[in-house]
Amino acid sequence: MRLSVIGTGYLGATHAACMADLGHEVIGLDIDPRKVDALNNGIVPFHEPGLPEVLQRALASGRLHFTTSFADVAEFAEVHFLCVGTPQSDDSGAADLAQVNGAIAQLAPHLTRPTLVVGKSTVPVGTAQRLASELIASAPAGEAVELAWNPEFLREGFAVADTVRPDRLVIGVTSENAENQLRAVYASILAAGVPLVVTDLPTSELVKTAANAFLATKISFINAMAELCEATGADVGTLAEAIGHDERIGRRFLQAGLGFGGGCLPKDLRAFRARATEIGSGSALDFLDDVDAINQRCRTRTVAAAITLCGGNVAGLRVAVLGAAFKPDSDDVRDSPALDVAAELLDNGADVVIHDPAANTNAAALVPKAQYVDDIESAVTGADLVLLLTEWKQFVALDPAVTGQLVRTRRIIDARNVLKRNEWASHGWTIHTLGRGTLLPQTG
Ligand code: UGA
Repeated sequence: MRLSVIGTGYLGATHAACMADLGHEVIGLDIDPRKVDALNNGIVPFHEPGLPEVLQRALASGRLHFTTSFADVAEFAEVHFLCVGTPQSDDSGAADLAQVNGAIAQLAPHLTRPTLVVGKSTVPVGTAQRLASELIASAPAGEAVELAWNPEFLREGFAVADTVRPDRLVIGVTSENAENQLRAVYASILAAGVPLVVTDLPTSELVKTAANAFLATKISFINAMAELCEATGADVGTLAEAIGHDERIGRRFLQAGLGFGGGCLPKDLRAFRARATEIGSGSALDFLDDVDAINQRCRTRTVAAAITLCGGNVAGLRVAVLGAAFKPDSDDVRDSPALDVAAELLDNGADVVIHDPAANTNAAALVPKAQYVDDIESAVTGADLVLLLTEWKQFVALDPAVTGQLVRTRRIIDARNVLKRNEWASHGWTIHTLGRGTLLPQTG
C-alpha cells in the first residue's frame, strides 16, 4: 500500500522505516528539512538501537523516502499516519495540540480523493472526533476523507520490536472501510498472531492514556512502598519480588528507584488529568496527582540522601553522576530524573561530573553548568560521592574494587536498585539504595 507518515520523531521515523521494511511504499514528512535530509541519507537523528539498520534497508529497497511537502504526501499516499508530538503545555499540564492541528490544517487542503487519515499521536480524548469534522469541512474531497485512531505503545530503546511485534494493535474506526484498510496495512503483523482490538474513536484515545497512567501508577506504587521500607528498615527489592510472584500483580514495572521520566509518562499523566478536569470528571483522576507527587519525591529523596551521605553538605564536593538519559539505551533527557538530580546537586554547590554513554550532548544543552566526560573512569576519579542514576548495563557491571581505587571517598547511591549491596559494602563502600536504606562498609 502507499502510506505517508507525518512527523518523524521516535514514533514517526520508526513507523515509516518499519512499514517500508514490511513491504509498503512509504513517504515520510517532517517540517524540519535537516531531519528530512538526515533520514534520506540513512541517518537516524536520535539514539534507537536497530533503527538505523531498518532505515537503511528500507531506503535501499526504494520503498521509502522523506519530504517536507504536504502536496507530495497527499499526491502519493492513500493512508496517512499522523505521528507528530503532543508535548506538555507550559502552563496547565494539558497537551499542546499545535503540531496535530497544524498537520491536519496543512494536509486537508491537498486531499482531493478518498483518503484515510490515521492518528497515532497521544491526544486527549475527544480530539479525534473534532479532527474528523475539521477534515471533512476543509478537505476538497469532503466526506470521502475518513479519520481513524491507532494509538502507539512503543517504548524508546525497543521501538523497532514494539512496532513490528507489538503486544496488541488497537484501532478506533467509524466505518468498515477504515477497519479493512488498517487490517490491510497491518496484514503481516496480524498474520503473526498479534491481537487486534477494534473500537470507537474515544475508546482508542483513552486506551493509550489509560495504559500510560497505569504504568506510571505501578511505578509510583512501588516507590511509595520504597518510602515505607526506608522508614521501617524493610527491603523494597524483596517486597517487589514477593508481591510480583502473584500473577495478578506481576513483577514488571515494579522496579523501585528514581522513578519515571521521558517524553511520555510524565506529560501523558498530566494531560490526562487536565482533560478529565475539562470534561467534568476530574475527581476520577485525583489519584494521578499523588502518582506524580510520589514520582517527584523520588528525585528529592535522592538529593537528600546525597547530602546526608556527605555529612550534611555537598558544596565543593566532587559528585560523579552516572547516567543522564531518562532510561538506559536512550539519549533522551526529556524530564529525566537523573538530570534533575544532577541539576539540584549543582544548585547545592556540588562539583558535578556527568557521564552518560549516549546522552551527554543532549544533557549539556539543558544543564550546561555540569562537567561532561566520555568514560566512567574520568567521572569517578577523585569523586567524594558516586550516583548511579540511569541503569546502563556498564554501570550495573561496575566493579566495587576497581572503582574503589579511583574515588576519593567510597560512597555510592544506587538510585536504580541494581547493585549488589553486600559486595559493595564488603569492599569498603557506604552504599545507599533507594527503598533499602544505607549499608555501612563491612569489615572483616
Ligand atoms: C512509555 C511506555 O512504556 C510505552 O508503552 C509508551 O508507548 C510510551 O511511553 C509512549 O507513550 O510513547 P518509554 O517512555 O519509552 O515508554 O519508557 P518506559 O520503558 O515505559 O520507562 C518510563 C520510565 O519509567 C523510565 O524513566 C524508567 O526508568 C521508569 N521505570 C520503568 C521505573 O522507574 N521503574 C520500572 O519498573 C519501569
